[in-house]
Amino acid sequence: MNLKIAVLPGDGIGPEISRQGVDVMTAVCEKFGHTVEYRHGICGADAIDKVGDPFPEDTYETCLWADAVLFSAVGDPKFDNDPKAKVRPEQGLLAMRKKLGLFANIRPVETFPCLIHKSPLKAELVDGADFICIRELTGGMYFGEKYEDNERAYDTNAYTRPEIERILHVAYGYALRRRKHLTVVDKANVLASSRLWRKVAQEIAPAYPDVQTDYMYVDNAAMRMIQEPKFFDVMVTENTFGDILTDEGSVISGSMGLLPSASTGEKTPVFEPIHGSWPQAKGKNIANPLAQILSVAMLFEYFNLSEEGALIRQAVNASLDSNVRTPEIQVEGGAHYSTDAVGSWIVDYIKKS
Ligand code: IPM
Ligand code: MN
Repeated sequence: MNLKIAVLPGDGIGPEISRQGVDVMTAVCEKFGHTVEYRHGICGADAIDKVGDPFPEDTYETCLWADAVLFSAVGDPKFDNDPKAKVRPEQGLLAMRKKLGLFANIRPVETFPCLIHKSPLKAELVDGADFICIRELTGGMYFGEKYEDNERAYDTNAYTRPEIERILHVAYGYALRRRKHLTVVDKANVLASSRLWRKVAQEIAPAYPDVQTDYMYVDNAAMRMIQEPKFFDVMVTENTFGDILTDEGSVISGSMGLLPSASTGEKTPVFEPIHGSWPQAKGKNIANPLAQILSVAMLFEYFNLSEEGALIRQAVNASLDSNVRTPEIQVEGGAHYSTDAVGSWIVDYIKKS
């Protein structure tokens, strides 16, 4: 297969982990006889500094040219503490999601047996937890009508029936390929938008008789994820709830640096870690590249190249088992490996296997 990949490193630790993702991608392509062509694009604070736009037209064109986007992270503290800033790096990410029609964000919450002790939850709760959060990504409060003055501000949480239907069908697709259990997460006891979600879900559920569907309020879901993460198989929810619940989900695994995601929809799909740009670590070569590398595995799997994806997962597991780890997940007394060192170890593993 010939793969055209748009590489968007972004800000903070983005460029450092991006390089590891690209190197792994190249190694896997060489091994399996695929050709791969990369084009880089700027985004986030980097693009604001260079051209004044966090998702410039050129970058959009590069995404449209590509079969898939390998995205890293955006965000810079100089914007966080300035509520008056006219443009923000995060707007670049939101523009990309909207312009590429990336309505379905797939965020798997997996646990790694050798890292269970890093989780703040008890091992027996975490061991074997494995679920996917399907987060709606182009609707809701993120994109609804907004207003802001000194005395009053609001965001509108609007959803239409077609937006809810299409994300539910994606979620049922995943449920059918997994343990056939779907939890629809909403706040239908309070929010009108959630009542429409629940109504549409109840209409669609009978079309999937093999899947057990249940409905849960988001506050309850937040609690259940900690009390009994193994309850969940696939959960589906709106944009804002999904944002919050997936950060919570990453804690279950023990490190945010481990979780990849895929965003799919109408145009080019995007593969990215769920963590942010971690500006404090920028240039220090300490960030964990595994979420980015696992995003490459998800990219291959998206194109039904499952052996390629499996080899990456095997290499990641081998690096963990061999204690080739970045500081935040290293065992006590173990040597600290840099971002580069973990990436190169995984590349070597792939080449040798
Ligand atoms: C995420 C991030 C983004 C979001 C930010 C950076 C805009 O937190 O991908 O979860 O809120 O969607
Ligand atoms: Mn988030």
